[in-house]
Formats: sequence, C-alpha cells, structure tokens
Amino acid sequence: MLYSPEPPPAPAVTIDGEVFDLYIPSAQIAARVDELGKQLERDYAGKTPVVIGVLNGAAVFLADLIRAAESLDMELDFYRLSSYGDKKISSGEIRKLKDVDISLVGRDVIVVEDVIDSGLSVKYIRDDVARRNPKSLRFCALLYKEGVAQLDFEIDYIGFKIPKQFVIGYGLDIAEKKRNLKSIYRLRG
Ligand code: IMP
Ligand code: MG
Repeated sequence: MLYSPEPPPAPAVTIDGEVFDLYIPSAQIAARVDELGKQLERDYAGKTPVVIGVLNGAAVFLADLIRAAESLDMELDFYRLSSYGDKKISSGEIRKLKDVDISLVGRDVIVVEDVIDSGLSVKYIRDDVARRNPKSLRFCALLYKEGVAQLDFEIDYIGFKIPKQFVIGYGLDIAEKKRNLKSIYRLRG
C-alpha cells in the first residue's frame, strides 16, 4: 500500500486563547503587492505623488508597496488614526493622532490603508485630504471587506476583497499585537 502522509495542518496562531488560521500566505501577499506596485508605476508615470500611509496598520503593506513601485518619483507621509481601541469592533469614533505634514495643495495623493471595514476611517481621511485641495486623490487598500462599507467614492486599488471577518498579521493587529506576522490569519469559527 502506498503510504500517503496526512497533509501538515495549516499553521495557526493563538493569542489570548483565540485561534487564528492561515488565510493569505506571505507569498500570495507578495505577488499581489508587486502587481499593485507595478500598477502605481504605470498610473503615476511622470508624476510625483504624495503617498500617505495610515498608521499603524498600513506600515507593513506600505513598506512593501513603495518598493514594488521603485521607479516611482514619490514623497511619503503618514496619518495616524485611532478608532479601534483594544476591541475587534470599531468604536465608531475616529481620532487623528498624527497629521500629514507635507502640503497637499495641487498634489496627486495616494492614501494607503491596510483594510477597509466600516469605511469610517477612509471617509474621515477623504474629507480631511479633500479640504487641502489636492490635484487628485486615490485610495489603495490591501484588504476590502465586502458588503460592509457604504462609500460614495471608489477604492481605486484593492489587494484582496474578503468577506467580513477579523484578520491579523502583515500590519493588522489584535490589541496592537501580531502586526509582525508575515502572512494574514483569520479568526477561527
Ligand atoms: P474601518 O474604519 O472600520 O474601515 O476600519 C479601519 C481600520 O480598522 C483599519 O485601518 C484597521 O486598522 C482596523 N481594522 C479593521 N478591520 C480589522 C481587522 O480585521 N483586523 C485588524 N484591524 C482591523
Ligand atoms: Mg489602520
């Protein structure tokens, strides 16, 4: 009889008694981030966009994304927002903990988010950036939870559309932990 071993169990991460299963492996993330970077290089060729990362969650994605768009002539800045506290459900209240420093007047602006869930953060940022009279404004999100946010504008670049669920890793946290996982994991259950 041919011996066929059981496939190894998909890796899981446990934190505070909650189990998260491997969801988007690092290699798949890398491939998709590369595509997004190439798309930005094409779409912004000859321009000098201001790329704005939304801290803390987008830091990991942003770092890979801008290097996937190496030929792009760009400037980098950051917002830091807080809406989640320590919970898995948005508090619904956005606070700006760090503002963008570069003037955005007449600039091509690309806002980079880790994930769009309720859409509250991205709406807040859109209003905030629009008040600064940029020449153009586009959004890039690694993850987009389908059917949750009611937005009256487009998210121009999306890495992966996913169903509504709680995910961690690759910048995404649970109570500030696990941002440093290379892959994305989803809450079991
Ligand atoms: P929104 O304002 O509800 O769209 O959520 C935006 C922010 O909440 C994201 O930028 C994340 O920082 C955080 N967030 C939303 N969903 C998740 C998740 O599944 N895991 C970790 N953080 C999340
Ligand atoms: Mg975030």
